[in-house]
Amino acid sequence: MKLGVNIDHVAVLREARKVNDPDILNALYVACASGAEQITIHLREDRRHIKDIDAKNIMQFSQLPVNLECSINREILDIVSELKPHRATLVPEKREEVTTEGGLDVFSFKSEIASAIKKLHSSSIPVSLFVDPSLEAIKASKELGAEMVELHTGSFANIFAMLNSSLSHSNHSIKELELSRSELERRVELSLEDIKNAAIYAKKLGLEVAAGHGLNYHNVSYMMEIKEITELNIGQSIVAKSIFCGLSDAIKEMKELTTRK
Ligand code: PXP
Repeated sequence: MKLGVNIDHVAVLREARKVNDPDILNALYVACASGAEQITIHLREDRRHIKDIDAKNIMQFSQLPVNLECSINREILDIVSELKPHRATLVPEKREEVTTEGGLDVFSFKSEIASAIKKLHSSSIPVSLFVDPSLEAIKASKELGAEMVELHTGSFANIFAMLNSSLSHSNHSIKELELSRSELERRVELSLEDIKNAAIYAKKLGLEVAAGHGLNYHNVSYMMEIKEITELNIGQSIVAKSIFCGLSDAIKEMKELTTRK
């Protein structure tokens, strides 16, 4: 399993003060030296965390492949084409969202996504699509010409957090949602089934399969059981843990959990 470490959250903290502390390049060096196998960053349209200069520096100094997440916005695609990351992952973006809320709508924005892929391919950049774990989305991704899909694991992570609310500070308590424990267990099972079926189907169609969003030290083992998934991109939980034990140990611990024995 390839571990992609998403270092956007280091820039989120930096932007809280708008000073160069913590330094994103320090995070890059620590990640490279601590078992990460890929660096993931998201150059958002509103530049709320990673800035153009960060992306440029990370591309210049990273010893690891860089997976650059971006929207299908033309201006952003021009920048990404010039930066030439090892891969671009197309994600949906809304200005008002706190984080990427769902997978790319590969049905309504077919032609826009197809031309984004074409543009990136013309700069020799392989493309992954961040999609919900549904067979229809996988089929559409293949038809659109992507090499890879990243399955959005947010729904699974949310339900898992509700079920294990003592482990995590989920926003919703079981009581609030009036869901019984057995119903939550059933929903966790169903969301895992969706991820597994999507991964199997994607692999069958010849797509590489990654997964990400909301993965943490408690739930990542479930992804390890799906052998078709060969890459995980994880940010929030690693950077959150790093506050208590340092970024290097936080990455090493995740690497240990994501190493297939
Ligand atoms: N993969 C993609 C495509 C994402 O947009 C994000 C969030 O930036 C992640 C993975 C990492 O998610 P998290 O920060 O919840 O681990």
